[in-house]
Amino acid sequence: MIDLQPVKGTRDFFPDEMRLRNWLFETWRSVSEQAGFEEYDTCVLEHEELYIRKAGDEISKQLYSFEDKGGRRLSLRPEMTPSLARLVLQHKKSISFPIKWFSMPQCFRYERMTKGRRREHFQWNADIIGQPGIVAEAEILLLLISACESMGLSSNKIRIFINDRRILNSILSQIKVPQELHSEVLVIMDKRDKISSEALTTMLAELGMSSKQVEQLNRFLLKSELQELRDSLNDTEGIDELQNLMQLLETAGYADYLQFDISIVRGLSYYTGAVFEVNSPEKQHRAICGGGRYDSLLSAYGGETVPAVGFGFGDVVILDVLKELNRFPELTKNIDYTIIPFDKEQLGTALKIAAKLRLQGSTVDCNFSLKKMKKMMQQANESGAAKAVLLFPDELSENKVVIRDLTLREQKPVKIVDLLSSAE
Ligand code: HAM
Repeated sequence: MIDLQPVKGTRDFFPDEMRLRNWLFETWRSVSEQAGFEEYDTCVLEHEELYIRKAGDEISKQLYSFEDKGGRRLSLRPEMTPSLARLVLQHKKSISFPIKWFSMPQCFRYERMTKGRRREHFQWNADIIGQPGIVAEAEILLLLISACESMGLSSNKIRIFINDRRILNSILSQIKVPQELHSEVLVIMDKRDKISSEALTTMLAELGMSSKQVEQLNRFLLKSELQELRDSLNDTEGIDELQNLMQLLETAGYADYLQFDISIVRGLSYYTGAVFEVNSPEKQHRAICGGGRYDSLLSAYGGETVPAVGFGFGDVVILDVLKELNRFPELTKNIDYTIIPFDKEQLGTALKIAAKLRLQGSTVDCNFSLKKMKKMMQQANESGAAKAVLLFPDELSENKVVIRDLTLREQKPVKIVDLLSSAE
């Protein structure tokens, strides 16, 4: 007997779950399109080298990689951003910037399985490339907020915790951590919530930080107010930008959603400016969404520096959150008619009526089980269809069918021509 379980960390989607997934995708798609974002897609297979980074990002260690029959090192994509950068670099001359693009890729990461983290997930990505300045962050954050609001989550249920990598870099510079180590230190700092402080200190020490530097860093990280940091940092570019961004969102009327949080680092080494994540106000989940500014990713692949900002919003945590809050939408099957032949003599007629109704735009299911009429009526009631079309020999001999309204529980004979001319 073969193993019938899905591969560890992956999911099967039964129809009910698929309906929910489609609803989520539709929400993502419609808020993106409403905000002028265009959809793109790429193949799930990419060259492995796209994901290998010097700073030792966790994601590079979680790759599902293999060698194809032509000897190429390939990976299942763990995230979309490198593919997006590849597309932009490849077609840079023909693209008119700025671009606002979105996608909903399935991503694969060989993760340690914990709540909210699986080895496969879908991730809504929205990115703005080629738009300098914090207005791009503001637009990206507004898109994020509109998605949350359209799922019924307002600022009392979710919060965007935001920081700026330049603030973290400026702290590291001030405690004299060499510039070339900053990315690696940040990747380690992102593990703060996941490993013990001793393990963290050891990793930082292995990178070359002294215990005094680690202590100084920890002291900086206790500062929860931007003003407090401003008073103690020499370089305040990150603070200025973050305050401008917060001001912009306040003017737009969405200040309630934003909260400065020095502990937000995000584990991807390509972020260069704002970094943010979405969580409940008490931060009791894994991040619902994560993103930031990544101006140097394209140059890391050999292009010029291009301003870029975006986020990835997974399907796993948000569905857990909506379930917990009892916010799942009511999703029905939306079937207009279910056609029920009485015996096999009417199968052909049933198929013909179904096909004609469908041509006219109705959603039509058929029950070809030829079970007892009582059983088939029970199935019709449970099917979610609005009406049943019953094919009985007597009515059919007069070119009629019986139409039963499954909500009102009323039925009457109707000429087939009338049914076909009245179908929506
Ligand atoms: P990320 O922070 O690695 O960013 O992931 C973004 C989101 O994807 C997470 O907040 C979470 O919702 C979801 N996610 C990630 N890994 C898993 C997993 N193993 N299981 C379930 N959900 C997961 C990125 O991937 C960046 N490329 C996002 C980005 C786009 N930055 C700029 N543009």
